[in-house]
Amino acid sequence: MKAIYITRRETFNAAHKLWREDWSEQKNWEVFGKCSNHNWHGHNFELFVTVKGLPNPDTGFVINLKDLSVLLKEQVIEELDHRNLNLDVPFMKDVLASTENLAIAIWDRIYLPIQKVGGELVKIKLVETENNYVEYYGGKEPI
Ligand code: NI
Repeated sequence: MKAIYITRRETFNAAHKLWREDWSEQKNWEVFGKCSNHNWHGHNFELFVTVKGLPNPDTGFVINLKDLSVLLKEQVIEELDHRNLNLDVPFMKDVLASTENLAIAIWDRIYLPIQKVGGELVKIKLVETENNYVEYYGGKEPI
């Protein structure tokens, strides 16, 4: 039997700014533009988590999406929703609060817990705006 891929979508909103203390105001502006605004800005993020596996013969499910949703809410959404990514989120400490780094941090947080629920995490898609999103495959080749 061949593996099938299933995706769960969750949403959260969060504030951030892109800023390096070791750069001048001007350099921060040149590199990060409006994203370096001192008083933060926010996004309504969409998180798509894709899991791969074989359908369970008893349920037909690769993973119970209710269980996956609970896991994502506990491990990710409650930590990020209505928070400031630069100040409020321990697992984003010491990294630039970019969408890229956030996607990698989310992957690292849920990779092992998802295995306990069933299935294997293969992709995270994190949508920052309607024009920008990142995809992360855990450093492996795309599906
Ligand atoms: Ni931003």
